Amino acid sequence: MVEHRVLVSRREIADITARLAKDITAAYANKHITVLVLLEGAKYFAADLLAQIEVPCDVEFTKVSSYLGTMSSGTVTLNADADLRARLRGKDVLVIDDIYDSGRTLRHCLNWLRDSQPKSVKTCVLLEKTIPHDAPVAIDFLGRTVPDVFVIGYGMDYNGQYRHWPYIAELADEPIGN
Ligand code: IMP
Ligand code: MG
Repeated sequence: MVEHRVLVSRREIADITARLAKDITAAYANKHITVLVLLEGAKYFAADLLAQIEVPCDVEFTKVSSYLGTMSSGTVTLNADADLRARLRGKDVLVIDDIYDSGRTLRHCLNWLRDSQPKSVKTCVLLEKTIPHDAPVAIDFLGRTVPDVFVIGYGMDYNGQYRHWPYIAELADEPIGN
C-alpha cells in the first residue's frame, strides 16, 4: 500500500473555501456574477465554494484539458458549446480552477474569454504551485500555495484516479516491484 502524504486536510480546505467565499462576496457586492468552472479538476472545489457565496450567480462549466499523467502536454483544449460565448458576453465573469501550475490552462481560457467580450474577468484558484509559471496570469482569489509536487484529491486526479478524496495529498512514487 503506497502512502500519499496529506498536504491540505479537510479542515484546511473548509477554512480556505469559507475565506474565499467571504472575499468573493465582498468583492462582488450588489453584482450578479457568472462563474465559469473549469472541468474536471475544479468541480469539487467550486461546489463547496459556491455554496457559501452570497451574491446571485449563474454557473457555467467548460471542459479544459492539458495534462497527460503527471506531465503538462503543453496543448490546452477547451470544449465550449457554441452558446457559451453568448452567455458570457457583457457579464462579470469569475473563472474557477483547481490549480495554477504552468499557467497555460488559465492563460488559454482568459484569451478565449476575451473574445467573448465579458464586462469583467477575475480568477479564483484553490492552489498555486510555487514555481516560475511559463504563462503568468493574475490570480484574484487564491486558496494557498503548494510546493512543486504532483497533487491528488479534492477534484485533482492522476490518470482519472483520486478525484473523490476529500483532502489533497502528494502523489507518492510507486514502490519498485509493485
Ligand atoms: P497548467 O496549465 O500547467 O497551469 O495546469 C493547470 C491544470 O493542470 C490544472 O487545471 C489541473 O487540472 C492540472 N494540474 C496541474 N498540476 C496538477 C497536479 O499537481 N495534480 C493534478 N492536476 C494538476
Ligand atoms: Mg484543471
